[in-house]
Parts: sequence; C-alpha cells; structure tokens
Amino acid sequence: MKDLPTQPRDLDGNPVTPGLPMAMLAEITHRCPLACPYCSNPVELTRAAEELPAEDWARIFREAADLGVLQVHISGGEPGARRDLAQIVASARDAGLYVNLITSGIGITRARLEELDQAGVDHVQLSLQGIRPDMADRISGHPGSWDKKMGFAGWVAEIGFPLTINAVVHRQNMERLPDMIALAETLGARRIEVATVQFHGWADLNRKALMPTREQAVFARQVVNDARTRLRGKLVIDYVPADHHAVYPKACMGGWGSTGLNVGPDGSVLPCHAAGSITWMRFENARDRSLSDIWHLSESFNAFRGTEWMPEPCQSCDRKTLDFGGCRCQAMAIAGDARATDPVCSKSPLHAQVVARAEADAATDTTADTAELIYRRMKKTRELQG
Ligand code: SF4
Ligand code: FES
Repeated sequence: MKDLPTQPRDLDGNPVTPGLPMAMLAEITHRCPLACPYCSNPVELTRAAEELPAEDWARIFREAADLGVLQVHISGGEPGARRDLAQIVASARDAGLYVNLITSGIGITRARLEELDQAGVDHVQLSLQGIRPDMADRISGHPGSWDKKMGFAGWVAEIGFPLTINAVVHRQNMERLPDMIALAETLGARRIEVATVQFHGWADLNRKALMPTREQAVFARQVVNDARTRLRGKLVIDYVPADHHAVYPKACMGGWGSTGLNVGPDGSVLPCHAAGSITWMRFENARDRSLSDIWHLSESFNAFRGTEWMPEPCQSCDRKTLDFGGCRCQAMAIAGDARATDPVCSKSPLHAQVVARAEADAATDTTADTAELIYRRMKKTRELQG
C-alpha cells in the first residue's frame, strides 16, 4: 500500500497548507428513536457507554473555536437522547460558536425546547421522512412520528427559532418533492435541504428500495430549479443531487479536510461523516490529541488534501480543483479503493458499471408500502458485526 502523505502537496511538489474549518458536526450520540433506512451514521453504531461526557464536549468546542470553527451542528442519532443536551449546548455557546441543533423532533418536549433556547441554540434543523403520516412513520420506522414532528415544528415557530427542514429524497418519495417544499413554506422554514440519499452505510443496504430512477433525478432537478426561482428571497433551497445519474461527481465536503470536521460520539475525529467506511484509515480521537493537531497533522486529514494523491484521469482533468475527484467514501464503496476517481464520474473506468447497477436497482419493482427496508438499529449493527 502506498504511504499516505502527512504533508499534502500539489502537482509541482509544493506543500499545501490546509485552510481552517468553518463548521464542525458534533454527533453527540448514536441513540435515536427513529430507524431511517438511509441513516448517515456508520453501520457500526457507537454504544451509549462509549459516548463522551459533556465536560469533554466543552473542551472540544473550545478547541474548535480556537481552530477557527464558527458554527457547530449538534446532531446524532437524536441529540435529544442525551439528558445533558442543554449542558452540551451551553458549553458550545460559551465557546462562542453558533449552535445549530439537528433533530428528529422526537423526544424533545416544549419545556425542553425552551430550556435549549435559554442554553444557546441559535437555529433548529428538523428532519422530515415524508409529507404525510403513513409515509413518515413507515420510513422512520416510528409509529406516530409525523404527529410528534408537526407538534415540534409548531413549538419551534412559537419560540422563534430560525428553521431549516431536512428532506431526504429517494425513489419512494421523490414524486412528492413539490409537496415537501410547500410544507417547508407552511412551517415557516427559511431553508430546506433537499438531499438525495447517498449510498454509503445503511443506505447502501437499502439500494433496491431507495435508488431513484433517472427520470426521477431529472424531475427533482427541475423541481428544485423552478422552486429556487419562485421562492427567491423567501426560502433557500440547498440540493444534493442524485449523482449516480450525473456526468460529474459532487465536490464532497467541498474537498477533503478543507472546510469541516466531524466528531463522533466516542470522540473520533473524521474528515466526513462516512469516512469510517475507509477501513484501512486510522482516525485520531479528541480524547487523545487536540483538534488543531488532528486538523493540521493527522494522516487521515492529510490523506486527500491537495492534488498530488489523485490518480488519472483526475490528474489531467481540468475539474480537479472544482470537484476534487469527487467523494472518497463513494470511491471506497464502489471501487473498493478510496484513492480512485469517484466512480460516478463519467471519466471513471467504472462509470458504465455504476450506471448499469444504479439502473438495475432503480428498476426493482417496489412501492413505499411494499419495499423491504433494513432499518438502522443497534441490534442490526450487532447482527452485521456477526
Ligand atoms: Fe472530477 Fe476526476 Fe472526474 Fe475530472 S476525472 S471530473 S477531477 S472526478
Ligand atoms: Fe466521505 Fe464524501 S462522504 S468524502
């Protein structure tokens, strides 16, 4: 195996100095009342006993602020599963960070939401699994989730938090994207993140149920473009497209180790939420090293900085500083090699294979009611671990 650079270099061999991260994702727990079959958490979930205590999070937030981080996204799992969430939020605010709470809205009462307001939550991001009760409850694997979420959204508006809706789209719900955008407007959201399922981890176990068709991908792009024009100045729409049907890959994370970092429930520090799928990579832990050391010096963060590491056809491609060779985790998942050109790129030798597989998965004849779903559950993690 080729040694990975601890000092990233460009093609002329000049050292590349990493920029500073603006945002940190703090996954404070993997516990969650929902069981979405596309969850972005790793298939190997962290148990409650391994979670960092609130005091460690307070130190990590201070280190993040010293490093240049401006905002922290407090997420999970469901962050509300931690009884000390308000303490964790307060320590992020004390460190001077803008605090975004990413939640399912399940398990946080109105009184608790007021407490979180006092503690320093600046913004709330609420996930939706559908635009009607049957779909939301089926996809989340949690009966009654829709009613709870709508109640929670009402409290968010009453307390006055700015709101973003997270809408993950896939084959079972893509036709309802116009309704999701309309619902975000009704709920008073300022922003909606329309993210097509990314096929790593749990979602990869559910490809046949969730892979969108090419027609759906084209439809979703058109819906987003039209809505962006119609709602300019009222609702911001962020969009992660269905890249298995695209010509070029997405610039994942805006480039590896360039603008953000993720800290997991046990303190492991990753360049992106799915990086743990790169099984040969060694990740540092914030229990043992400072965030600054990890950001600047660790093997994992330096592995794919700069352009020197890139293979052909990326090396000689004029898009290499636009998409940075695509997504390393997708290269790992499809090509079995995190250093490969992202196989969804039309220049990748694996592209035709990727498209054929995506189209075969998308042609699987299921409906929202009949699709067999592998839900994200701790028990399933144990089964998969054998
Ligand atoms: Fe991006 Fe590499 Fe494809 Fe060029 S060849 S578009 S740099 S992934
Ligand atoms: Fe890890 Fe794209 S999800 S680099």
